[in-house]
Amino acid sequence: MRVSVVFDTPQVRWTPDDHRHQMEQELAGAEPHEPEMEYQVAGALLERGHDVLLVGVHDDPRVVPDHCAAWKPDVVVNCAESFLGDGALDYVCATLLEACGHHYTGSSPLALQVTRDKAMSKKILAYHGIKVSPFVVYRTREKVTEAPPLTFPLIVKPLAADASAGIAHASVVDDVAALAERVAFVHERFRQPALVEQFISGRELYAGILGNDERLQILPLTELVFDKEKNEPEERIATQAAKWTDAYRKRRGIRTVFARPVSAVARERIEAACRAAGRALWLRDYARVDIRLTDDDEVWVLEANANPFISKGHEMANAAAKIGLSYQDFIEHIVQEALARAERDGTRMRSRMTA
Ligand SMILES: Nc1ncnc2c1ncn2[C@@H]1O[C@H](COP(=O)(O)OP(=O)(O)O)[C@@H](O)[C@H]1O
Ligand SMILES: [Mg+2]
Repeated sequence: MRVSVVFDTPQVRWTPDDHRHQMEQELAGAEPHEPEMEYQVAGALLERGHDVLLVGVHDDPRVVPDHCAAWKPDVVVNCAESFLGDGALDYVCATLLEACGHHYTGSSPLALQVTRDKAMSKKILAYHGIKVSPFVVYRTREKVTEAPPLTFPLIVKPLAADASAGIAHASVVDDVAALAERVAFVHERFRQPALVEQFISGRELYAGILGNDERLQILPLTELVFDKEKNEPEERIATQAAKWTDAYRKRRGIRTVFARPVSAVARERIEAACRAAGRALWLRDYARVDIRLTDDDEVWVLEANANPFISKGHEMANAAAKIGLSYQDFIEHIVQEALARAERDGTRMRSRMTA
């Protein structure tokens, strides 16, 4: 197949050949950092024998329709995580692919936008009976003048960030003064509303979703575990440091592992919540749901990620490996799911037209 890989890039005016060269360097280990996700994905597709075109988007969105129209891919793998360096614009590439009528992997622009707004997606999840933590939103510049109708401790997050941006121990607050301070911090630092939720004590689990509808699979759970001696209960959260800083993780005894056993009831509830969240938020092909599991096996959905990281060695790919999918299989699976979905939807569309 001819497969375009579309992604955001800091490189100005790089052609597909420039990216091809860079990909080869990075996959050969010539760079100190791990290869960029789009290069890993493209490498997997090449190993599967596909013809691959690397389309990097810097500031000119026209490269997507232009390259794709000229090259005519059978399918596009959408690896875009942002546009103009802004993660909140991650829907731009999906929108272009949608508008041009290409088959592409991953969630629609609507799902990307709705899941980006954590309050909006929580409202939808709640409507569908999925447990989400009670919350309030403080619009940008809105001050906290009194205690909200929630029970402390609370956690304060930017409304539309990801990758634990703005999440630190100071995000968990026990009184109005600390709440007011953290809300003001989020407004100032992130220039966006602050989402304030009731804090849910429990285990931190991540569930990967692969496929759609009747082919949908919930992958083996990943867990972020904390050394209980080194982390107080309210410190057991995925702060930026807990997620990304190796030295800190080591010092605090924080590890990302396949989840320790959960009860049959919890397993069932998690699967049901993931399936319901996938449907409610129009997630497609692959996604990840962040969950808190309490001591009494209650399952709370923290958020759904419509565009999770799919690099080798990270949660989604590791969980796929656990069910026997090599990295190449995992990427191929996503592509096949997108094609099967497009085929099915196309058939539906054709049948509507002839009805
Ligand atoms: N209501 C909550 N109760 C307890 N911990 C939470 C809550 N909301 C977020 N967290 C902690 O903060 C982390 C980041 O929050 P999340 O909403 O998933 O944002 P991000 O998009 O940055 O991943 C979670 O993984 C969890 O550890
Ligand atoms: Mg999260």
